[in-house]
Amino acid sequence: MILLDGKSAAEAMKKDIAREVIRWCKESGRRPHLAAILVGEDPASLTYVRNKENDCRQVGMDSSVYRLSSTISQEGLFECIRTINEDKDIDGLIVQLPLPDHLDEQEIIEAIDPAKDVDGFHPVNVGKMVLGLPSFVSATPAGIIDLLAFYRIPTTGKECVIVGRSNIVGRPLANLLSRKGSGGDCTVTLCHSRTTDLAKVCRRADILVAALGQPHFLKANMIKEGAVVIDVGITRIADKSTKSGFRLAGDVDFEEVAPRCSYITPVPGGVGPMTRVSLLKNTLQAALKRNQ
Ligand code: GUN
Repeated sequence: MILLDGKSAAEAMKKDIAREVIRWCKESGRRPHLAAILVGEDPASLTYVRNKENDCRQVGMDSSVYRLSSTISQEGLFECIRTINEDKDIDGLIVQLPLPDHLDEQEIIEAIDPAKDVDGFHPVNVGKMVLGLPSFVSATPAGIIDLLAFYRIPTTGKECVIVGRSNIVGRPLANLLSRKGSGGDCTVTLCHSRTTDLAKVCRRADILVAALGQPHFLKANMIKEGAVVIDVGITRIADKSTKSGFRLAGDVDFEEVAPRCSYITPVPGGVGPMTRVSLLKNTLQAALKRNQ
């Protein structure tokens, strides 16, 4: 069994991005700039946004965080998005999710300028991705494709089973893995809570992706011997023995499953770092496009 080390892969990719950023800065006279809107103080969201700021710094990009109260109105949030949409010095904009319950997430996503939507969540970008047109692809699916490519894991003709049909991971990943060409050409099955005999479907998989958000859900009896297993889960579990007071749990029961795999991602240090690097790639792409 080989660990798919997302941290090392992401570091290597960040070096390439940093080189490209230097080249772009010389040409344009400024740095690529990612803006993040953070509503409220959800601890996981605070960490994610801080990590994104650090990533930007590491590759020579600018970043800014717009911190808004958890009680902000839908109109107040629209106003902030409009300001950033119109700011010529900002290339990419993300609104950190989840949002408080009183805000309509879909309407908020649709308010973002598709040309700055580096999360790839806007319907224009989702639609283009599905049609195979150039677009921003959401960061986690793009990161998984890059991780498979980094380890030269073939996808052509492979049976891929994805557990979890979210708009952010499962659905776009099913599209990417089934598209024509390099990194695609899989036969994809997208499973969910209503799938009949999930364990049997999962055992078909050469590449099995767990993206349902239920810690340790995937067990050894769901894995074909020699499968590639990708764990997207990152649930925080209270743990007083750690400094932070929690530990991260994946959707895969690693102890049980790892011995059956050819490759498996760890949690943390697998998909997470790849997601973050994809956001940097999208931000660079946004900057490059704006200069064309
Ligand atoms: N919350 C969890 N994952 C994501 C992501 O990829 N983008 C945004 N904006 N929020 C998230």
